Amino acid sequence: MRPLARKLYHALYRACLRAQWRMLDWRNPPSSRADFPLPPARLRFRVAENASVLNFFTVGLRTAERLQEAMAYADFQLHDGAAALDFGCGCGRTLLWLARQSPDVRWHGTDVDAESIEWCRASIPGGVFSVNGPLPPLPYADGSFDLIYGVSVFTHLSEEHQQAWLPELRRILRPGGLLLLSFHSRNVWQPLEDASVVEREGFVFRTSPKLKGILPEWYQTAFQSQPSIVNALSAHFTDVGYLEHNLGDQDVAVARRA
Ligand SMILES: C[S@@+](CC[C@H](N)C(=O)[O-])C[C@H]1O[C@@H](n2cnc3c(N)ncnc32)[C@H](O)[C@@H]1O
Repeated sequence: MRPLARKLYHALYRACLRAQWRMLDWRNPPSSRADFPLPPARLRFRVAENASVLNFFTVGLRTAERLQEAMAYADFQLHDGAAALDFGCGCGRTLLWLARQSPDVRWHGTDVDAESIEWCRASIPGGVFSVNGPLPPLPYADGSFDLIYGVSVFTHLSEEHQQAWLPELRRILRPGGLLLLSFHSRNVWQPLEDASVVEREGFVFRTSPKLKGILPEWYQTAFQSQPSIVNALSAHFTDVGYLEHNLGDQDVAVARRA
């Protein structure tokens, strides 16, 4: 597509999205009710690139279950009173379910998206939420957390941003604590023309202006090979493991702080 035509197509796409969100919010009004907390469609879209209500709840529940499987794989138990951090929690799609299933854990969430954090504060009882910048630091003391997980966050970060975040996540994890991070599965990037570059160099970062004004400009799409992920994690963590397709089209890497 020619540059001008592409620009017009992207602007039209964003206008259609905004119209769709208004319609979805009219049909299912956002709510902070404890029994059925529903974020506005624009916040659901920002975590899923899909604003469907059904998708928001089913993916959140499935992700919470799969993270528990990953904890079991790592032989890790989240005991009552433990502290857990959802890094890049968005509007709480996963945290919502985990906090219901384990109400005696001290749940924290952090995200660059201030509007989503505001919604979490009003809608997820028992959670403690903060807004962070695109790069470290986070506002937590060393060794604050037993568990840190990041679902579909590193999938959007450049290699430089990922390299900046790994030591920071290590800093706030307690010794012996567990880190879970998701990455695009091989089947997602294998059909792309960049696949051989991912194989050879381990990392490809794809950018597009399509969602300009809806998502931050530095928030794009990362494709990584399993060996490069394991290498990057092994520089900061121990007992690095890898669960292919743990989250469907995303794999989950597990690692401990020594
Ligand atoms: C695809 S969404 C997933 C949200 C949530 N983890 C879930 O699974 O529903 C990615 C989230 O990561 C957040 N994010 C991206 N970069 C971040 C960063 N450097 N620090 C904290 N959050 C970040 C985005 O704002 C967004 O909420």
